[in-house]
Amino acid sequence: MEEISVNEEQWSHFFIPYEQAVGELVVKFIHLKKEYRKRKIHSPIEFVFGRVKTVNSILSKAKILNMPVDQEISEHIRDIAGIRIISQFVDDIDTVVQMIEQRSDMRIVEKKDYIRYPKKSGYRSYHVIVAYEVITINGPIEVYVEFQLRTMAMNFWATIEHSLSYKYDGKIPEHIQLRLTQAAVASAKLDSEMFEIRGEIIQAQLYFNLYREIQNLTQMIYLLGAISENQDLIEKANQYMNETENIDKLEDIRNQLAKVVEDANKIGLIVRDGNDD
Ligand code: GTP
Ligand code: MG
Repeated sequence: MEEISVNEEQWSHFFIPYEQAVGELVVKFIHLKKEYRKRKIHSPIEFVFGRVKTVNSILSKAKILNMPVDQEISEHIRDIAGIRIISQFVDDIDTVVQMIEQRSDMRIVEKKDYIRYPKKSGYRSYHVIVAYEVITINGPIEVYVEFQLRTMAMNFWATIEHSLSYKYDGKIPEHIQLRLTQAAVASAKLDSEMFEIRGEIIQAQLYFNLYREIQNLTQMIYLLGAISENQDLIEKANQYMNETENIDKLEDIRNQLAKVVEDANKIGLIVRDGNDD
């Protein structure tokens, strides 16, 4: 009994820098996504997930049951800390790779391009292993972190393949494997089709966000009871949303509506736009 609890404590101490690294990196990359949003630029980062490998998963990878929790594991198992970044388009992944390359808070140790060179299973993803320093109460510790960069299509496929692989203990029945291989081809096709019209999609998303902002602001003005004195502005906003393709005009109307809301706030009314993600 005693030995187990000592082990558990060792493991929990072992995980400290990895948990810190994952926590910090998720926050850092979510902030980059927010910055793109604020600057009204298409974000190459759509979602950010992080996880620390479980003890069981580490042990099965190490294939030893009674091993010391030490430097050996830290050196040889480089995905104890894992960050997954999901992008909309394949070329966003190159942008994310460049972002990682240019960062001063991490150093690239290895890159594996399973997008240009998919695995035999059909798996596509871009893996980057970095060395990342965390400052613990005992000083700085450098840990490895595995970044998996994927499109949504790649992630969909990999997540499903992973569950099947787990269910069948790595030996997926042939008829299912065949479907998976075909799905991998379809997923690559989806990515390349979306890539072809990415400019169109990005612009539509930009308009959509702007429309949503204008609608939210109009709604707020309504809730503030300031409709009548801003009737002309609101009519113009509705007209622009129906007619114009001119992004500058839409942004101008959005700014004017925002000014009305801001002024109303200044005179003591408190509103929240509920769209602060
Ligand atoms: P692992 O021992 O699996 O970590 O392989 P590795 O250290 O040689 O690294 P590799 O880049 O091959 O794979 C690292 C990780 O990528 C795995 O832990 C999985 O999360 C993911 N991965 C790799 N190959 C596949 C695959 O065929 N299917 C799925 N679903 N995921 C994969
Ligand atoms: Mg790995």
